[in-house]
Amino acid sequence: MTELLSDICALAKECGAMILDRSSLTEVDDKGTDSNLVTNMDIRVQNHIAKRALALLPDSRIVGEEGGHQDTTATTYTWVIDPIDGTSNYVRDIGCSVISIGLFKDGAPYAGVVYNPYRDELFSAELGNGAFLNGKKIEVSTRDFSHGHLCSAMSLYKKEYAPPCFRIIEKVYAESDDLRRMGAAAYELCMLAAGRVELYFEIRLSPWDAAAAYPIITEAGGYIECLHQKGFPLDRPFPLIAANSKESFARLKEIVLSEIPVMPYDERI
Ligand code: IPD
Ligand code: CA
Ligand code: CA
Repeated sequence: MTELLSDICALAKECGAMILDRSSLTEVDDKGTDSNLVTNMDIRVQNHIAKRALALLPDSRIVGEEGGHQDTTATTYTWVIDPIDGTSNYVRDIGCSVISIGLFKDGAPYAGVVYNPYRDELFSAELGNGAFLNGKKIEVSTRDFSHGHLCSAMSLYKKEYAPPCFRIIEKVYAESDDLRRMGAAAYELCMLAAGRVELYFEIRLSPWDAAAAYPIITEAGGYIECLHQKGFPLDRPFPLIAANSKESFARLKEIVLSEIPVMPYDERI
């Protein structure tokens, strides 16, 4: 592991300890919809990561979910941060939320760290060096589509996009083994990288939801794509699909495209 990746891992663990201390959680606000929440801890953790990230790479830029650090200008290194992925789980004390720190190099995913403090699980990857869970190499599973578990969601912050999600889930469910909805996209994508689930689809993810998990999936031998996009955009939400094998990815993409053949929205962050 390079020194940079090990510094990012240490940072994610520090943030994990911060969110486990629930006495620090003092404020919960919504961002316009009842389900889109932000707490004082989302902001505190993002500020902590931003400060340390800029110290690690002084010429880098930061794109983070909680604003204040949105900077998508072209530069060699860009940090893409979700301080708490699974905020609703966090507020409800469900115990399934992660710290997600992605690093892009020249506009493409380069390294990622996702930390689940509730299970002390640290997922990490750097291009070309493999994907790891707590230091042990991970690989996607070899299960075929019919034995696959799908992780998905129904566009909770923009419910107008929910109907095609239900149709896609119904079609995939009919051909696969089972469905999971955990409420933390970055963690669900890492579960795919670790061989625990096989399929992932979400109609509207923001860059910070998937930036860190993206290289973890590719380094674990999986397939992942921001649908209807060129590469991985940092300035807009997008549909995302991922799978453990080329064949399952192709079948999942076919089903998803049958319901959303073109980009269903045109938004910027
Ligand atoms: C959300 C979670 C959720 C996913 C949403 C995300 P947040 O992130 O990852 O599982 O379905 O699309 O926005 O708001 O908890 O950081
Ligand atoms: Ca998120
Ligand atoms: Ca978040």
